Amino acid sequence: MLGGLRVLVVGLNGSPRRQGSSDALLRAALRGAEEEGARTARFDLAFMGIAPCRACEGCFEKGECVQDDDMSELYEALEAADAVLVASPIYFSGMSAQTKVAVDRCQALWARRQVLGMPRRPGVGAIMLSAARQDARFDNALSELRAFLIGIGLRPMGELTLGGSDQVGASERPEVLAEARELGRRLVLALSPGP
Ligand SMILES: Cc1cc2nc3c(=O)[nH]c(=O)nc-3n(C[C@H](O)[C@H](O)[C@H](O)COP(=O)(O)O)c2cc1C
Repeated sequence: MLGGLRVLVVGLNGSPRRQGSSDALLRAALRGAEEEGARTARFDLAFMGIAPCRACEGCFEKGECVQDDDMSELYEALEAADAVLVASPIYFSGMSAQTKVAVDRCQALWARRQVLGMPRRPGVGAIMLSAARQDARFDNALSELRAFLIGIGLRPMGELTLGGSDQVGASERPEVLAEARELGRRLVLALSPGP
C-alpha cells in the first residue's frame, strides 16, 4: 500500500512462447507483487499490434506518438504504473525484437521526461531475462533495459537472469520461481515509505 492506495505493477512479456520461461517468471513476480497488496496488469507484447518507432520526433511536441496502435494502452499503463517488470528471452545476446519494438516506442515517454520536462512520480522497475545457454550473455539486454527504465522515469532496482532454460525452463525450477516471486514482492516494498 502506498498512501492508502494500492500500487500498480505493470508486467511486460516479450516472449512469443505462451508458456515459456518469461511467462513463468512474470507470472511468479506479479503474484509476489499481488501478495504485497499491489494491483497488476500484464501485456504480452508478442500478441499486440505494435509498429516500430519511426524516429519522426513527432513525440517531441507533446509526448504523444503519431502512430495509433496497441501502444496507446501500454503508454497509459506505463505512465500509471508505480512499478514495471520487463521479462524477455535473450535473442542473439540481446532482448527479443518483441520487447525492443515496445521499448523503442517508449521514446514518447522519454520525450515527456527529457525533452518536455514533464515529471513523473517516483517509480521502480525490474528486469527478468532467460536464455538457453548456461553461459549466455545477459549484459547487453540488461544495459539496454536499465536505460529503458531510467528513460521512462523509473529506478531500476532488481534483476533476475536464468541460463540453461532450454534444458529446464523456469516453470520447472521452483527455486527460480521463488526468486521471481520475491523480486515482485521487493518491488512493491521498495515503494513503501520507510519508517
Ligand atoms: C531468435 C532466437 C535467438 C536466440 N538467441 C539466444 C542467444 O543468443 N543465447 C542464448 O543463450 N539463447 C538464445 N535463444 C534461446 C532463448 O533465449 C531461450 O529459449 C529462452 O529461454 C526463451 O525464453 P521464453 O521461453 O521466455 O521464450 C534464442 C532463441 C531464439 C528464438
